[in-house]
Amino acid sequence: MDFQQIFDAAPTVQSSAPGRVNLLGEHTDYNDGFVLPTAIPQETTVFLGFSSTNQHHFYSAELEERVDITDSNMDSSSKLQGFASYVWGCIRLLEQMRHSIPPMNVFVTSAVPIGSGLSSSAALEVAMLRGLRSLLQLDLDDVKIAQLGQQAEIQYAGVNCGIMDQMASSLADPQHLLFLDTRTLERQKIPLPQDTEVVVIDSGIPRKLATSGYNQRRAECEEASRLLKIKALRDVTDPEAVETLPEPWRRRARHVVTENNRVLEVRQGVSAERFGELMNASHASLRDDYEVSVAGLDHLVDILQKTPDVLGARLTGAGFGGACVALVRAGRGEAIAHHVLEQYTSLGYSGHILVPALNHTQQ
Ligand code: GLA
Repeated sequence: MDFQQIFDAAPTVQSSAPGRVNLLGEHTDYNDGFVLPTAIPQETTVFLGFSSTNQHHFYSAELEERVDITDSNMDSSSKLQGFASYVWGCIRLLEQMRHSIPPMNVFVTSAVPIGSGLSSSAALEVAMLRGLRSLLQLDLDDVKIAQLGQQAEIQYAGVNCGIMDQMASSLADPQHLLFLDTRTLERQKIPLPQDTEVVVIDSGIPRKLATSGYNQRRAECEEASRLLKIKALRDVTDPEAVETLPEPWRRRARHVVTENNRVLEVRQGVSAERFGELMNASHASLRDDYEVSVAGLDHLVDILQKTPDVLGARLTGAGFGGACVALVRAGRGEAIAHHVLEQYTSLGYSGHILVPALNHTQQ
């Protein structure tokens, strides 16, 4: 199905945005900390046209789902779920900024896997906002687009997320890492370590507890900051003070402090080997201190870490399931991914390779 078949007209504009994978700096963004994501080759594409009715009409090619925004669900975004809530959230936020958005036909198609922790939702938000920017010639820069995308996620999809995913989708490219200070939004593109490439494998484990676990961790970090009398865990200056906190706040805060330091160390410039070590340390910290890993992710990371030419590996994204990322020697990604997947599936899991992308058509 394409736009023409669904809406019986040609689209006026088309816009795309990539998913992201985070190399280092996990669960630091809502602590005002540092992150190091990169864009993945897979993108979400949105086709837009003006609706001939007085309603918005949204269609998702992957979900084969159509949503018509009628008067009865217009004011109640809570009735919308899934892809429509993100699309609708973007439109509503622009309207709240006093932009007038005419009734739209929106066709969404995506190569970003849904539910693997690669930010398919941020890719949709950024693609949608880019499309509206170009169709209506809105004065929005790429940072504003990321901020609006984050607000769409928080207000219309109910996920109290940080700014990393939308900033990565809006500003990163697959050739660089995007160092981002999530408090100041200061950023810098840095190259991958020399002669390395990135591998991403989906563990196949659904992120069932992701929303509740995510919100709980976020609340624990806020409590730890309160106990330490600081604005956010980014502001810890004395790691010894963290050690005096009661559990679980001690371990939660320790993860954030050590994770921020790992990102800052990479930003200073490290060898490929050291980068890999820091990724391995990040996984241990997410598993033991932050407790957002699960057995399948630990197995997958363990296999990756034991494979020759893998420099480092860790879970990526919020955790509780989803994908793992590895830094490997250049040219070895494809072979490593297949070898690792074979071992992983022999344990009874069903994962699959996401990067190097199996489908290169959108690159
Ligand atoms: C999700 C959120 C991000 C970030 C990561 C964990 O992807 O959307 O804001 O908090 O989890 O690092």
